[in-house]
Amino acid sequence: MILGIETSCDETAAAIVAQDGRIRSNVISSQAELHARFGGVVPEVASRRHLELIGPVIREALADADATLDDVEQVAVTQGPGLVGALLVGLTAAKAIAWSRRLPLVPVDHLRGHVASLYLEPDPLEPPFLCLLASGGHTLLLDVRGYDDEHVLGTTLDDAAGEAFDKGARLLGLGYPGGRELDRLARDGDPLAYDFPVARVPGLDFSFSGLKTALLYATRNLSVEELEARRADLAASYQRAIVRALVGRVREAADSKKIAVVGGVAANSELRASLPDAALAPLPLCTDNAAMIASAGRYAAAVSYPGYLGLDAYASR
Ligand code: KG4
Ligand code: ZN
Repeated sequence: MILGIETSCDETAAAIVAQDGRIRSNVISSQAELHARFGGVVPEVASRRHLELIGPVIREALADADATLDDVEQVAVTQGPGLVGALLVGLTAAKAIAWSRRLPLVPVDHLRGHVASLYLEPDPLEPPFLCLLASGGHTLLLDVRGYDDEHVLGTTLDDAAGEAFDKGARLLGLGYPGGRELDRLARDGDPLAYDFPVARVPGLDFSFSGLKTALLYATRNLSVEELEARRADLAASYQRAIVRALVGRVREAADSKKIAVVGGVAANSELRASLPDAALAPLPLCTDNAAMIASAGRYAAAVSYPGYLGLDAYASR
């Protein structure tokens, strides 16, 4: 069994996954509420909270799996990209557990982790496929050729898709992170009420900053009552524009390849409905979790005891 650990942003997560890809437990403690009053993740606050939570979360993952550390054969942990202080909490915990038991440790790239959310039971996908990875920190179009072989076909030139959702939600007076709230609000709105632009950028890249500005212009002259009355329409139109940009690129790049979508934004109901032929990450595995990290650990190179003690976290790829 593999113990997976994930602390790259504001979720403290641990999971137990069997080598065959069955999830035995998947514990996620979100700090979202803690950061909400700041309107975004405060790195130092996140690190401290991870430090408080990492022990209890790992213990709960073991208990949920009916396992003890004696059952763990390998520790897989997110090494980057992410907030370095936050990553170091998970990485240090992983090193300590692996070292104390003479176990191998697998450093996992968070983005490969998101892709590996597709490799778990009961419905695992096999490469090759075209993968849209859309999260709060990244928007990537990947040509996934093998389990540890992917090529970046396109990326965002400015904001990530999830960031666009969060910034839009903020302009509409929704909480942080706002993607899910905006998704919910959009269901009551008319997606054709506003004509928000889909940025035209060359190649297979994305751009979302103009869209956010368009929403700002559409909302800034509205009174509180007017905004309240138009909020659902604004949300629906704004969401439509983001989804159209994502789906357009996926279709352009797909050829006849299988299509897959992962990352927090893969939870979006309109995006899911717009790609009925795609392999979609299961809802509980879209946003950050440790089952996907353990899953990626099955395909990445393990570092044997005690070589991993010198491993460092990295902020960006
Ligand atoms: O993958 P994730 O948990 O974290 C990163 O690695 O960045 O993604 C979080 C992002 C946030 O921006 C959040 O607003 C967005 O995913 N998100 C959604 C939905 N659920 C989460 N965006 C749109 N619709 C949703 N239903
Ligand atoms: Zn993520």
